[in-house]
Amino acid sequence: MIYLDNAATSFPKPPAVIQAMSDFLERAGGNPGRSGHRLSIAAGRIVYDARETIAELFHARDPLRVIFTLNATHALNLALRAILRAGDRVVTTGIEHNSVMRPLRALERAGVPVAVVPCARDGSLDLDAMRRAITPGTRLVVANHASNVVGTILPMAKIARLAHDAGARLLVDAAQTAGVVPIDIEAMRIDLLAFTGHKGLYGPPGTGGLVIGEEVDVAMLEPLWRGGTGSRSEFEEQPDDLPDKFECGTPNGVGIAGLGAGARFVLARGIETIRAHEVELTRALIEGLGTLPGVVVHGTRDAELQTATVSFTAANHRVSEIGLRLDEEFGVLCRVGLHCAPAAHRTIGTFPEGTVRFAASVFTTRDDIRAAVDAVRRIVQG
Ligand code: ALA
Repeated sequence: MIYLDNAATSFPKPPAVIQAMSDFLERAGGNPGRSGHRLSIAAGRIVYDARETIAELFHARDPLRVIFTLNATHALNLALRAILRAGDRVVTTGIEHNSVMRPLRALERAGVPVAVVPCARDGSLDLDAMRRAITPGTRLVVANHASNVVGTILPMAKIARLAHDAGARLLVDAAQTAGVVPIDIEAMRIDLLAFTGHKGLYGPPGTGGLVIGEEVDVAMLEPLWRGGTGSRSEFEEQPDDLPDKFECGTPNGVGIAGLGAGARFVLARGIETIRAHEVELTRALIEGLGTLPGVVVHGTRDAELQTATVSFTAANHRVSEIGLRLDEEFGVLCRVGLHCAPAAHRTIGTFPEGTVRFAASVFTTRDDIRAAVDAVRRIVQG
């Protein structure tokens, strides 16, 4: 089997992730932050260690500003609902996932005007168009760090400057870049960073988070949910302390244990090393697919400008047929269709059919890429 669906969720997971989750259940299965006994304390320590590791990974000074969520979508909804009020304006791009577009369309109906800055067919963003779109009254700019369809990386530090020059905040959807592309929220001046745990951080599904930058006034943010936090139990009002203001109900301790181990795996391997490996594979994939008759590789076609996510279509072959044959005849696993990102597919010109998407990870080899390209060759030539 050759697993090339890492943009959906990474597989396999490092053994340390599986071990950390099993250890949590076997040895630390208390409810973190709720009770004073040893199993609760052990669980609380694991959750805090994971918080510290995530803070280190994204260069956040205060681990308490790392809010654990169910996934990136939850973190994005939390951030959008926390910051936007009727009458605020929000600016986004033409290459977003529905995790951004669906909450924005709902907010639009609630009186938050949404401006979408179109992207080029390769997914790249015209910064002048972005500058023009961030008009007075813009409260927030929200953009994905990299497209989940074509991998195109957006220049976040430059977008942050445009947002801040106009008095707006920047929310970054790092679902495709956390663990894969270096992210320094201080240097890049990212105000809010939504990430998922189960892709480039090699954690389990059901994990993710929102990192709140130091410049954001937490008192101005509304929580998405309210409930028990294990702290200030005498009050019926949600506490203002972090992370409790935004984390309530029993946390996914076992998942967070796995997420912490995944993030430690990434730190130990080194994001630069992971990135170099993935750039090499992406280059091989783009070159290999590009030589096949009738195959169109979408996106930048430049491995340095994108993640290891490569989308393609083939003349006279439906993407669903290619995906099915890759799986059944060649053991190559990928994702086809619209990838929950119709806006991105409209931008690159592949709506409504979509594309075949290959996405490598740190565990993908050059041989895997050769075999996957060869499988596509046999399908399109057959
Ligand atoms: N957002 C994930 C993907 O792109 C699930 O496949």
